[in-house]
Amino acid sequence: MKTSRPPGLRRLAKPRPDRLPPRLEPTTLWDFPSRNYGGGVQGDGAWPGATPAQVIWNLLRRYTRPGDLVVDPMAGGGTTLDVARELGRRALGYDLAPRRPDVFRADARKLPLESGKAGFVFVDPPYSNHLRYSGDPGCLGRLDAAGGEYYPAMEAALDEIRRILAPGRHLGLYVSDSFAKGKGFQPLGFELFSRLRQRFDPVDIVAVARHNRVLERGDYRRAAEEGGFFLRGFNYLFIFRRGAERRRPDGGRRPRAGRRGGSGPCGK
Ligand SMILES: C[S@@+](CC[C@H](N)C(=O)[O-])C[C@H]1O[C@@H](n2cnc3c(N)ncnc32)[C@H](O)[C@@H]1O
Repeated sequence: MKTSRPPGLRRLAKPRPDRLPPRLEPTTLWDFPSRNYGGGVQGDGAWPGATPAQVIWNLLRRYTRPGDLVVDPMAGGGTTLDVARELGRRALGYDLAPRRPDVFRADARKLPLESGKAGFVFVDPPYSNHLRYSGDPGCLGRLDAAGGEYYPAMEAALDEIRRILAPGRHLGLYVSDSFAKGKGFQPLGFELFSRLRQRFDPVDIVAVARHNRVLERGDYRRAAEEGGFFLRGFNYLFIFRRGAERRRPDGGRRPRAGRRGGSGPCGK
């Protein structure tokens, strides 16, 4: 039966997801229908592969405190910097193709930062060569995972993250697997997880749902249905911690096993 609205009563507009305040995620399944939050703009959404700001917001609320130094070694459009500063954290961003003055030009494999200075590192690296970021020969987005060049370069970037991260502090790495016609499936997530594990203590794995806006465009849906492959439906968010180090009686340092179970919220 058709119901009629009483005269004078307007239909309430559905709240736009990008205007809603961010919220702390309680589970390991995150779903963000918009890239920005709170009616603001965090980072440059036009940058290829820009990160959903709420991914970074959630990490910083859990693992950092106001005043901590947050570093993004592949900062792109600067989402990490904007979110960190909104939350009262200090922020440093590097990229081979900087597009804003507060992102410094540097290769993530050799950062101009002293060891142990970062209180948190967030990185959303190229997912092998699925997007073109710049023509810089050092860009990891030019390297093919299938050809074996991508992983050694990522290992060098992970070594550098370990060097700059203070012992006991966390990092988040956001990545998706890749499927390309002619090359097939590349399990970037599992490959990078195992390399992270060699350097850091695992804390958690989050699945972030992707809103494939291209799905309804062109032939994407038909290609996936008829071509016998899947389009990527989620990103991995890997959370790790750099193991703390104790001073040895002889003055040297030895690694200490990471504290277990203490990775709950610490910031505001
Ligand atoms: C997925 S994008 C990062 C997106 C960013 N988090 C944002 O929200 O805009 C990956 C970035 O890695 C950068 N990049 C690729 N190779 C690099 C390298 N060797 N050193 C530093 N940055 C690099 C690219 O220029 C690109 O901006």
